[in-house]
Amino acid sequence: MRLSLKTKFTLATSLLVLAVVTGVSGLYIARLTRQVLRQADDRASFVALQVYDACNQALKDAAQRDEAPASTSPQDLRAYAQKAFDDSSTLNTLIESAVAYSPTVYEITISDKDGIVLVSSDASLRGQKVAKRPPVGSLVSARFFEQLRTLYGPPQTYEFSYPFLLGAEHFGDIRIGLSSVFIRNEISPGLRSAGWYALGSVLLSTFLAFAVSTVSLAPIDRISTQLDRISAGEFDMQPAVERGDELGAVSTKIVGIGKQLRDVREIFSTLRENLDQMMSGLEDGLLLFGADGRAVLVSPSVEKFIGGRPSELRGQRASEIFPANHPMRRALRIEGDEIAAVEGTEVTLAAAGGAHRVGVSAQVIREHGTRMGTLVTLRDVESLERIGNHLEVSERLAAIGRVTAGVAHEVKNPLNSMRLWLEVLKANMPVEPEPQQAVKMLDNEIDRLDRAVKTFLNFTKPVELKLEETDLRALLEEVLDAARPEIGKAGVELRVDLPSEFPPVLIDRQLIHQGVLNLVLNACEFTSPGGRITLSLRRSGESAVIAVSDSGKGISAEDQKKIFQLFFTTRPGGTGIGLANTFRFVQLHNGRIEFDSEAGRGTTFRMELPLARSSDAPAGKVRDFSQPFAEEKK
Ligand SMILES: Nc1ncnc2c1ncn2[C@@H]1O[C@H](COP(=O)(O)OP(=O)(O)O)[C@@H](O)[C@H]1O
Ligand SMILES: [Mg+2]
Repeated sequence: MRLSLKTKFTLATSLLVLAVVTGVSGLYIARLTRQVLRQADDRASFVALQVYDACNQALKDAAQRDEAPASTSPQDLRAYAQKAFDDSSTLNTLIESAVAYSPTVYEITISDKDGIVLVSSDASLRGQKVAKRPPVGSLVSARFFEQLRTLYGPPQTYEFSYPFLLGAEHFGDIRIGLSSVFIRNEISPGLRSAGWYALGSVLLSTFLAFAVSTVSLAPIDRISTQLDRISAGEFDMQPAVERGDELGAVSTKIVGIGKQLRDVREIFSTLRENLDQMMSGLEDGLLLFGADGRAVLVSPSVEKFIGGRPSELRGQRASEIFPANHPMRRALRIEGDEIAAVEGTEVTLAAAGGAHRVGVSAQVIREHGTRMGTLVTLRDVESLERIGNHLEVSERLAAIGRVTAGVAHEVKNPLNSMRLWLEVLKANMPVEPEPQQAVKMLDNEIDRLDRAVKTFLNFTKPVELKLEETDLRALLEEVLDAARPEIGKAGVELRVDLPSEFPPVLIDRQLIHQGVLNLVLNACEFTSPGGRITLSLRRSGESAVIAVSDSGKGISAEDQKKIFQLFFTTRPGGTGIGLANTFRFVQLHNGRIEFDSEAGRGTTFRMELPLARSSDAPAGKVRDFSQPFAEEKK
């Protein structure tokens, strides 16, 4: 059982007062008892003396009446004394009144030296032999507890005895009987009132102690509520106790601590936000395990590698996240809950879209030689490789661009003079059909070549991006309007999945329009009638993702590496320029384009464009893009 401070304080004070009161009352009772006993003793001796005087007087009176003992034998002497005492009214009145008025005197007896009663206040004792009783002096000088035991034990009689002389001889004794019950009755009222006082003072002190503790401990209650409020997150407050003493100081300090806690919490939540933001932007999956083997930090992208929600994984043990049969288990070399340091191994994980290669590494964090935790990093090997491919394609395109730009210039001039000379030739030609036909063919081919070269040259010029804040949903609707005839011709079903709200992006409308249109047209061309095309828009972190998927024939693994190359086409009558252009447009916007395809099942192209940020000026408005490609002119 836990006692409250108030109860303890009250109890302690009451016990203390009880102890003091008991001590004081004990002393008082001891003194009272002794005093009462002494008084009884004194009174008894006083009464004895009076009786003695009265006896002498009675004997003198008898002598005056000329009475004398018959002989000196003890019997005659006793009879003579008894008669003299009986005749003395003074003596008898004295005995009666002394017994009646003295509260402690129980009996007065005069006996001869053999103890035979001559006269007594108790008439039945007359002539009887009465044994001696213990002297009252022994009780007076006894110890306090002995006195109490005697007084409060079974009733007992003590006596005060005074020798009575006849002539010079010891004739008998005057015996004053004192009853323990009578003495007790003298003490009891004092004892009772002492008891009442003691009880009263204990009760009063209990009440006072309770009142004092209630008043003096009240600030502690207030301080306690103050602390409760702090732990509930309410950091700004006034001191609960405004006093100059220690409790006031404590309360003021608590207010200070609340302020510090608020600052710390603010710093902490800012840090946390930053950390979360940083982690949400991470492609790599990060798992940080603490010294106790439990995950303390799990980045959002972990989910795409091992499929658990970060909020659920947090707090789990390494052995729970990677159970015994988990493919990651062997790579991480987990023993108990300890993960050994691992440097870049590769693990193949079964994912929804087939097997997935993941790079795994683990770093043990130590401080002063003590193991503090482990950082596990998961890396998407495949997308890294894809990025590598992207870079390779861009470089190749750039190289081709440089070559073709030069070639185009070299071709342009001879082409012009060829045309002039052809005109001259035409004017001087015989009108026979065969040479005429040949010249016409030449003319057409020169035209075609000229057109191609013009397009090339057109694209050697730096591209000036006309960036505008654009609602991508509206732009996609426009693309669909433009592609409607082709979609109808292809006989495919169109699905559109646009969000109800979307942040604006900063783009060159025309270029992105053309880029998305190229994707949609390809989807129409490579999907047989009855198939399906889906156009969707969603947000992923700080990017807008436009996805065009089809249920068409897909791209063979071998072709997948080439589709962004200029002039690569598998389509009869195709130019192989559409995807190369789209790739370039997306790059100009600092975006990204990637695709998933499976031969026979379909293809999905994803175009990622950064969202407009107020602080963000577009990267290089004018870009000298030395990759001249011919635009697909339709
Ligand atoms: N949605 C698609 N489905 C299948 N193959 C595609 C798809 N889109 C592009 N391709 C492949 O990429 C090649 C290049 O496409 P592109 O650059 O648009 O040129 P073109 O359309 O003139 O062939 C196509 O010939 C085709 O092999
Ligand atoms: Mg195309």
